[in-house]
Amino acid sequence: MKKAIVIGAGLVFSLLLSPFQQAFAAETTGELRKVDNVAHRGAAGYAPETTIAAFDKGVEMKADYIEIDVQRSMDGELVIIHDTTVDRTTDGTGSVKDLAFGQIRSLDAGSWKGEEFKGEKIPTFDEILDRYHGKVGILIELKAPELYPGIEAQVAKKLKERNLDKPQNEKIIIQSFNFESMKKTNSLLPKVPIGVLTSNRAHITEQALKEFATYADYFNPSYGIVSKELVDQVHSLGMKIQSWTVRSQEAADFLLEMNVDGIITDYPDYVDPRK
Ligand code: G3P
Ligand code: CA
Repeated sequence: MKKAIVIGAGLVFSLLLSPFQQAFAAETTGELRKVDNVAHRGAAGYAPETTIAAFDKGVEMKADYIEIDVQRSMDGELVIIHDTTVDRTTDGTGSVKDLAFGQIRSLDAGSWKGEEFKGEKIPTFDEILDRYHGKVGILIELKAPELYPGIEAQVAKKLKERNLDKPQNEKIIIQSFNFESMKKTNSLLPKVPIGVLTSNRAHITEQALKEFATYADYFNPSYGIVSKELVDQVHSLGMKIQSWTVRSQEAADFLLEMNVDGIITDYPDYVDPRK
């Protein structure tokens, strides 16, 4: 369950690294720390978010994880879409929770991003698990779970059916902005790492972080509230930290310098020091 750390052999090793890699080598020991590269909504900078095209692109770009948003259709199918309506990213309208799966599935989720993506569909949670588990990590966000009573148990069932509720070298993580939902998920899936999402500074007090650490393995803030002190504090409480959403080289460089464990980005190529 520990993050991969590549240990170099001091100066000799560091001279073998590219200048870009050397920038991230520890000054004293030649240690090169690996940061998890998380393709946000797939590689959403390059393909229509949360479609197979975007997730495949994330894999092709050698992301360590794809990040998905899980919601539920009116008739109970778990689907992958970020917004709680289909309006922005498809040719349809309406709330995800008020549309039947057949209606959701008939929508074009690609054309808004470019003609070459015409015909991309909204994927199901089943499809994502079956297509990607074992190939790439999956950072599962329960999006607005308060709209979908019982979604935690439904997600847990899907993971258990595939034996993905066992320790998976942290390649399956579940996160949400809804903390009660994450407490519930932790009790349903005690071996699956849990993350809490926030952009609220009220959640980075010592008291708040200690409370998160009672059930969460990851504290995942927006990068606007990240500092070295926060990263150290999160680590000292035994949690890891993945931060979002990187859409510029500067933001990626900032988070690398802050020593976060994962960078959640629309552009995986801004992050990967192995390139
Ligand atoms: O994974 C973090 C990030 O996805 C949270 O924000 O709005 O993109 O779901 P959002
Ligand atoms: Ca998300």
